Amino acid sequence: MKLADLVSEAKQARMNARAPYSGFKVGAALETRAGKIFTGCNVENSSYGLTVCAERVAIWKAISEGESNFRRILILSDSEQPAPPCGACRQIIWEYCGDIEVILANLKGCRTRHRMKQLLPLAFDKSCLE
Ligand code: THU
Repeated sequence: MKLADLVSEAKQARMNARAPYSGFKVGAALETRAGKIFTGCNVENSSYGLTVCAERVAIWKAISEGESNFRRILILSDSEQPAPPCGACRQIIWEYCGDIEVILANLKGCRTRHRMKQLLPLAFDKSCLE
């Protein structure tokens, strides 16, 4: 899957975002190592804390379909600077996807590339429980 395809999948997913409270719509596209794409959008709730971010929706969809081997995730927002994942999502991405590539994008075509290890240094994970 080309990066441009990943961007358009995330754009498409973003259009389904339910963001009446923040007005901030986000789309995500998670690619498996086999090249399959799972998308997600943020889904907000009037009880704000129940809101789920776009990345997490994509991850839950993929995991519930039996996927466990991921290559990269692209997160797309309509902001001046592409939005980085929140702390909760970093923990979730690390837990289920490991040190994958994280691409941040906006609608203006700005893209930045990162590794999960950079975004969540000194992570708490299963190795801490051994
Ligand atoms: N949001 C995401 O979906 N992903 C991110 O990476 C950052 C934040 C959502 C959560 C909420 O619906 C809105 O953006 C504003 O925080």
